[in-house]
Amino acid sequence: MSRTVYLNGAYVPEEEAMVSVFDRGFLFADGVYEVCAVLDGKIVEFEGHMTRLERSLGVLSMDMPVDKDEMLKIHRELVKRNDLKEGAIYLQVTRGAADRDFVFPKDVKQTLVLFTQAKELTSEKAGIKVISAPDIRWGRRDVKTVQLLAASMSKMMAKAEGKDDAWMVEDGFVTEGTSNNAYIVTKDGKIITRNLSRSILHGITRASVLKLAAEMDMEVEERPFTIEEAQQAAEAFSTAATSFVCPVIEIDGVALSGGSPGPVSKRLNEVYIEESRKAAC
Ligand code: PDD
Repeated sequence: MSRTVYLNGAYVPEEEAMVSVFDRGFLFADGVYEVCAVLDGKIVEFEGHMTRLERSLGVLSMDMPVDKDEMLKIHRELVKRNDLKEGAIYLQVTRGAADRDFVFPKDVKQTLVLFTQAKELTSEKAGIKVISAPDIRWGRRDVKTVQLLAASMSKMMAKAEGKDDAWMVEDGFVTEGTSNNAYIVTKDGKIITRNLSRSILHGITRASVLKLAAEMDMEVEERPFTIEEAQQAAEAFSTAATSFVCPVIEIDGVALSGGSPGPVSKRLNEVYIEESRKAAC
């Protein structure tokens, strides 16, 4: 069935949604995006995603194309029109269409696109197997830009080896997964995840999960870790809007937590879903 998508003020069937070949998102990857989960037909972590969107746009000298209230209305309208119960809403803003030039054009109308994707998010997870791969992305990974080719190539490397994802490594330390933040749990129960910097995306799920972990009296340490340390950990997991807390059960061929999801990631996933259901809008 064809979806209804949002494009620059109009709700249209996906086949009819057209963007210019001169759009800078297409020519320069000159755009940013956000992804909100949808649970029970409601938007998860809307405020957090919009705050990050504003920040990403600001770094690239772009404005919000519409205000937050209007964004929420569009999200809700898309959920309604597509009868979405569980899944995600993707939002993409580009600088718009202009004659090809490396200089940012002035007074161009931005392109705003939103679309839904149905996805099972709350079923029990079997856990994923990851490989390590060199992180070849640019230096501003804290900005959620649409230049996702390096991440996509790393994911394809994992798929070629029959695995699920790649944890990217720079200067000997794990940065993050191709579309998620990465964590390990030490044998004495401490959760380790890389500290925030320009090297990783500041995950909205990450912030909430760390807060929940602290509330549950779990010890959290924000620092870089190596693949070798991860392979010796009690368990590992990743977080993202579209996978919540996802257990990692193998890293570069070494099984973790007996090759099945560990108790910390399972518990955090349950609590995150519970809290997200309550707070979704
Ligand atoms: N990806 N790191 C990267 C590189 C990501 O692309 C993502 C999200 C995250 C997790 O961020 P958050 O918790 O805010 O979703 C970390 C989205 C889901 C995607 O590209 O589909």
